[in-house]
Amino acid sequence: MIKKNDILKLEITDVSFAGLGVARYSDDEVENFIIFVHNAIPQDVIMCRIVKTEKTFAYGIIDKMISGSKNRINVPCKTFEKCGGCVYLNMDYKNELEIKRQAVINAFKRHMKSFPDPLPAVPSPEIENYRNKVVCPLSMNGKFGFYARASHRNIENNACFLQDADFEKYLTATEQYVKDKNITPYDETSGTGLFRQLYLRKAKSTGEICVCAVINEKKLPYESEFADLMEKTGATSVYINENTTRGNTVLGRNFRLIRGKERITDTLCDIEYEISPRAFYQINSRQAENLYKYAVSLADINEKDTVLDLFCGIGTISLLAAKAGAKRVVGIEIIEEAIQDAKRNARINGIENAEFFAADAAETLKIVEKCGGTPDTVIVDPPRKGLGIETVNAIAQLSPEKIVYISCNPETQAKDIVSLAEYGYSFNSIQPFDMFPRTQHVETVVLMSRIKEK
Ligand SMILES: C[S@@+](CC[C@H](N)C(=O)[O-])C[C@H]1O[C@@H](n2cnc3c(N)ncnc32)[C@H](O)[C@@H]1O
Repeated sequence: MIKKNDILKLEITDVSFAGLGVARYSDDEVENFIIFVHNAIPQDVIMCRIVKTEKTFAYGIIDKMISGSKNRINVPCKTFEKCGGCVYLNMDYKNELEIKRQAVINAFKRHMKSFPDPLPAVPSPEIENYRNKVVCPLSMNGKFGFYARASHRNIENNACFLQDADFEKYLTATEQYVKDKNITPYDETSGTGLFRQLYLRKAKSTGEICVCAVINEKKLPYESEFADLMEKTGATSVYINENTTRGNTVLGRNFRLIRGKERITDTLCDIEYEISPRAFYQINSRQAENLYKYAVSLADINEKDTVLDLFCGIGTISLLAAKAGAKRVVGIEIIEEAIQDAKRNARINGIENAEFFAADAAETLKIVEKCGGTPDTVIVDPPRKGLGIETVNAIAQLSPEKIVYISCNPETQAKDIVSLAEYGYSFNSIQPFDMFPRTQHVETVVLMSRIKEK
């Protein structure tokens, strides 16, 4: 049997959903035993050291490279091998796009026998420094970075390749501040210490930056000095977020503004958005514009249409649909602050045919009944866990002609599509978008049309 520390010669033939290299190993005892190898890519031939075994598969690391794939490139990051932030930094970008398309195929295959071949993934306009938001944990050494893969071990690196180039100076300045003021980093194992994370968000088109210190108490020592320092570094808004919970939740409920504007302002697809720190905002702004334009064009909106935008966040898709000429747009989203932003964003842009409701998507029927807006088109953009059966049922009861399904998880999207198909919806294209270059994540857009009469 395969054991920990065994060294095996393997050829990587595939990648897993999590972006690990996949090899199949056979000998006298096992056949096609699956081994997931960190930092390995298809066509690598390696000597692999087994680091963990399970009943039907094992994990390994590269012990020695025998011949590297032709798609390998030099890795420009010193922490790549340990960090959980990205998985494809060692791969030619064209190859990454094809691997993501293949990941979509694999996900859909697990849920349905036949489906349209996904179109080539739309490349991201930027593949470095594209992230407009990071939340960096502070290590016990007082250095910012990211978590190691599948763990909460800190990997110190305040100059990540994916983050906006401006972020490093805020991270460095805060490290110095923490050191000068003898502020203790938060220790996850004991739940003691003060400074947990630094959250940074940038509005790419205006350059405005929101900084937020996540701390294990109500107040940060020398708070106004911290505000001065961040303002001097260029911040537009400085917040304190109090998170005294144990466990993995990054942000607490309370954001307290200590300097500057409440919300930063960005422009996407020629629409201005004010963004609260608690609201969701796509992390790759330029690619988000491509995604939104595509989704709204699929909806093919006309002046008779009522559009329901479920999981609408601050109204990014709703307002674009409203501007595209819909008679009326109704947005539903669970975070109250995001809905306040959406309403304000409609006002700022002089858009009068969009209204917003703070509610769980599962409550869609109640909201639609209340506002009398039976939709012709429903646009959904749920979180990774997908729509869930209650929301699928609610949409089916509304029986819209079209459903535009935007997803950041093709696995749950495929599952929901199977449920919607049972209500008489079909689809004939899958368009992947690379929203998260260098990571294993992929976004997909599918248009479903009602083929059965109401
Ligand atoms: C992937 S984001 C999409 C947001 C928006 N469409 C955009 O592009 O900015 C998913 C959104 O769903 C919201 N959400 C999560 N669970 C929800 C639920 N049960 N009901 C309604 N909204 C929910 C999140 O707060 C988040 O804003």
